[in-house]
Amino acid sequence: MSTLTASPQTLSEETFRQLRDFIYEKTGIYIPDNKKYFLENRLSRVIKEKNLRSYDDYLYYLKYSATKADIARLFDAVTTNETFFFREPQQFEVLASNLIPQIVKENAQMGRKDIKIWSAACSTGEEPYTIAMILLEKTELMTIRKEIYASDISESVLMSARRGMYGGYSVRNIPPQYMAKYFKDSGGVYILSENVKTLVKFMNINLIEEREVRQLKGIDIVFCRNVLIYFDDKAKKKVVSLIYDVLRPKGYLFIGTSESLHNITRAFRPVVINKVIVYQKV
Ligand SMILES: C[S@@+](CC[C@H](N)C(=O)[O-])C[C@H]1O[C@@H](n2cnc3c(N)ncnc32)[C@H](O)[C@@H]1O
Repeated sequence: MSTLTASPQTLSEETFRQLRDFIYEKTGIYIPDNKKYFLENRLSRVIKEKNLRSYDDYLYYLKYSATKADIARLFDAVTTNETFFFREPQQFEVLASNLIPQIVKENAQMGRKDIKIWSAACSTGEEPYTIAMILLEKTELMTIRKEIYASDISESVLMSARRGMYGGYSVRNIPPQYMAKYFKDSGGVYILSENVKTLVKFMNINLIEEREVRQLKGIDIVFCRNVLIYFDDKAKKKVVSLIYDVLRPKGYLFIGTSESLHNITRAFRPVVINKVIVYQKV
């Protein structure tokens, strides 16, 4: 098959594999053979924006002339950013009722008056802001320093997260008392209050880049939910071991309820609290 004749509408098997490998090397996201259409859909717009003629031209461009902004645009194009407030609420219940009191007590015994939580693939911010609201609701945390870090590989979702403005889909699971207290309805756009926004520090962190992840340390709880599903086992192992390193001893990790660390690590002990699995650093 000639690669020279390929148009943006057709992605040859060979170019697909090379693009797929390039994306995997940079992000850990693994696109299987049967998802060629996914890459075609996601990249055709970028190719048009760049005025390139074909997927082959784009591949060549990525390999030899891409700027940091081009790589960021690629990350925006290939990531899936689905999220909403209070997603998988039973995990937040365990956070509020079990982990926070325990961690505050343990940290106090170590002379610490803080709690550090990291939302490691935060998308448009619903997850870290849910955590922030939960922390604000806990009166026993009034005198405790609350640090919430939230990161993602996609700059466009981070920009949206920093704005703190949401549509009906994102807010549909928020309990009414939180809605009334922390949001202003501006004609169907829900504006998050400043006291929630200021608790969260957004950062661009690529989870497979050791140097980037190592900016954080001494974290009490990590939320790394609904992102490992896009990685293959090798990338999952790398990310989980980097998360292990940024957690404080006996710190906790939440992954998505449909995800598993089976065959990925033995460095975490699964703990079941109220039917919810939380992984504890051993
Ligand atoms: C489906 S969203 C999950 C959002 C949130 N954690 C939740 O569970 O609702 C997955 C996010 O992972 C991010 N992501 C994908 N690969 C990543 C990587 N290598 N490093 C950091 N973030 C990544 C995507 O940009 C996307 O925003």
